[in-house]
Amino acid sequence: MRSSSLLVAVATAASAVQAFWLGDIPHRGIAPFAQPNYPVFRNVRDYGARGDGITDDTAAINAAINAGNPCNRGCASTTTTPAIVYFPAGTYLISSSILPAYFTHLVGDASAPPTLKATANFQGFGLIDGNPYYTEVLNWKAVNVFFRQVRNFVIDTTAIAPGRAATGMHWPTSQATSLQNIVFNMPSTPDVVHVGLFIEEGSGGMMADLTFNGGATGASMGNQQYTMRNMKFNNCKTAIIQIWNWGWTYHGLSINNCGVGLDLSAGGPSNINVGSVTLFDSTFSNTPVAIKTAWTPSANPPTGGSLVIENIQLNNVAVAVQGPSGTMLGGTSGSTTIPAWALGHLLDRGTNAPRFSGPINPNPRPASLLTSDGRYYVRSKPQYESVPASSFLSVRAFGARGDAAADDTSALQNAINTAVAQNKILLLDHGLYRVTSTIVIPPSAKIVGEAYPVILSSGGYFNDMSNPRPVVQVGTTSGQQGYVELSDFIVATQNAQAGAICIEYNLATNGGQPSGIWDVHVRIGGFTGTQQQIGQCLKKPGNGSVDRNCVVAFMAMHVTKGARGLYMENVWLWTADHDIDEQLNTQITIYTGRGLLIESTTGPLWLWGTGSEHHVLYQYQLTSTSDIFLGQIQTESPYFAPVPNSLVPFPPVAKYSDPDYRAQCVGIAGNCPAAWGLRVMSSRNVLVYGAGLYSFFDNYSTACSTFDAGQTCQQRITSVEGRAENVAVYNLNTIGTREMVTRDGGMVGGSGWAENRNTFASNVGVYRA
Ligand SMILES: *[C@@H]1O[C@H](CO)[C@@H](O)[C@H](O)[C@H]1NC(C)=O
Ligand SMILES: *[C@@H]1O[C@H](CO)[C@@H](O)[C@H](O)[C@H]1NC(C)=O
Repeated sequence: MRSSSLLVAVATAASAVQAFWLGDIPHRGIAPFAQPNYPVFRNVRDYGARGDGITDDTAAINAAINAGNPCNRGCASTTTTPAIVYFPAGTYLISSSILPAYFTHLVGDASAPPTLKATANFQGFGLIDGNPYYTEVLNWKAVNVFFRQVRNFVIDTTAIAPGRAATGMHWPTSQATSLQNIVFNMPSTPDVVHVGLFIEEGSGGMMADLTFNGGATGASMGNQQYTMRNMKFNNCKTAIIQIWNWGWTYHGLSINNCGVGLDLSAGGPSNINVGSVTLFDSTFSNTPVAIKTAWTPSANPPTGGSLVIENIQLNNVAVAVQGPSGTMLGGTSGSTTIPAWALGHLLDRGTNAPRFSGPINPNPRPASLLTSDGRYYVRSKPQYESVPASSFLSVRAFGARGDAAADDTSALQNAINTAVAQNKILLLDHGLYRVTSTIVIPPSAKIVGEAYPVILSSGGYFNDMSNPRPVVQVGTTSGQQGYVELSDFIVATQNAQAGAICIEYNLATNGGQPSGIWDVHVRIGGFTGTQQQIGQCLKKPGNGSVDRNCVVAFMAMHVTKGARGLYMENVWLWTADHDIDEQLNTQITIYTGRGLLIESTTGPLWLWGTGSEHHVLYQYQLTSTSDIFLGQIQTESPYFAPVPNSLVPFPPVAKYSDPDYRAQCVGIAGNCPAAWGLRVMSSRNVLVYGAGLYSFFDNYSTACSTFDAGQTCQQRITSVEGRAENVAVYNLNTIGTREMVTRDGGMVGGSGWAENRNTFASNVGVYRA
């Protein structure tokens, strides 16, 4: 009797764990600006999907997506109709595309990912079509598609005849989107023409943990920039075709039994389409050609096809790099490791070698950033698939209203503290939680959001530029010991907030697993609830006088001196350039002082797939720091600049080591007082694997960012100052700036935009200070 009731208890616990918590928890999320009773959470089974592998579930799934009239066909963008469409385990037969709306996440059971299985007669461009062609143009402008996730699926085209065109997923999207934990199963017959993942446009983005089995092409992709890691390709004719790009960062590719690994040859040598690729910590096995390039010493554009590879293992690969006229780097019938090799322009500690091809010295890697196999440390967003629903607490159950109006400060703080005290995970149900003083996230907190809920600062407490205060403070003192996991939420501000530091990160995580922040974004202005939209802060080209009501944050994120042991992935620090909730996406003029400031004296810090845009003084600044990995970083300067320029409205503050453009711009021509994209001061072991630093606008006109106009949007964009020990940037891409790299106030020889012309950006393949 005793033992059988014990067995029952064990069985109950096991079955409680087996169902993914997301399907089991009460759903309390609200969308305060949507229609009444708008459902944030939808389980496809509640809309009639069977998941039995027999019934055609297409209509039921699309009904789940379209409940409550979210932003789908014909809508430009939104933040007011968020949704999570949840798929329990099962096989969902579909006969045409699943068409997720804007700001809609498709999430499968993480412990038993559901299969989307195409019928033999499947019609559509993608089993999941993330941005359909209802007309000859994409439904959403690809560069404005943000805040969408797809995770935990098997996408299966094996029932479609191999010789018939089929696409697993169509995903032309941009920042703050992610694909995670998806398997693409395709036929692997010689006649197969299926493509797993197809992307033709956008400004991404982050993907991780994807597996492609079979197919003509695993992934066929064109986009401005991307960070992709842990992607496996088995038995594809070609693993990856890069259609076009400016910069792309691949880590942890594992390519097995394919014909070609990475095909970067689009356009050919006279018109190279692939700007640059950074590939490291990857393995190619039983694949005759690892990389195909169009690069030659005389190719056009001059830096087109820039390639930097580091720590690449080959097992039975005949050709490592194949150029237009044959082998450029041979392979092996056995096993070998390529330490580092490059095609492109080297500005490497005094060496200026344009059109270089051959081996280079790999970056010395500090041990603190590595795992025991010598690769950079990575960790995917936790989904808590082995944790039962009873381990989650809901912030709304603590009385937080989430309507962008009520003061939720104490309810939110109480919920966080209680979750920590009870060793539970805090669920931020969807809502906009207005807070009027600092929210502290203490050590041991685990917080996960439902479809990007917002913590929204408000009021006078955060509006004093001379006394900035954190909105969300992780750890109360710099260097406090502790560990946190934060994912899937947004920090923002409401009305004027000249003293708001959206996130201040203080924790030191020593030894063991680093703390992690995944898909946590700072989104300042441009959406309903902020009062920082077209009604308040409409753009005013030519008028450089600052409206104090539109000074909306002091800094997006601050990693303080004592902080260490932090892993960040897919974090987008965005001061809005346009109003997402206005259907013409009209531009706005709002001012945030600073982007991301890292002062961690020791590191380690990892930034995988991060971006920082439209802040006045700089996008990324690293001050007296050490052991920082960044890849791919992406920045944009403010669109209004230089009307006004970066001299206003934020006077430099010594405490934050702000750039003082009055001093830095003495004797410098052009538009000098302009935001640094990346500023590295007195630092050591700063390793950037891919950077896109863009300045597209001058007084709201893009005319300055073309090669014909001479890249005059701003004079300079990258600054390395003072001691720089092992500071390296692979594939630095810049747009709109005349000088690509400034070292202690002077241009680095060879870093003018013109000599480094690439497809659309200017590119330096390897810069080492
Ligand atoms: C900025 O653009 C506006 C509108 O196009 C124009 O009227 C104004 O003269 C420009 N100002 C400067 C300083 O370029
Ligand atoms: C310029 O902007 C300021 C601040 O928003 C505003 O008060 C002023 O009316 C504007 N001037 C013009 C000519 O529009």
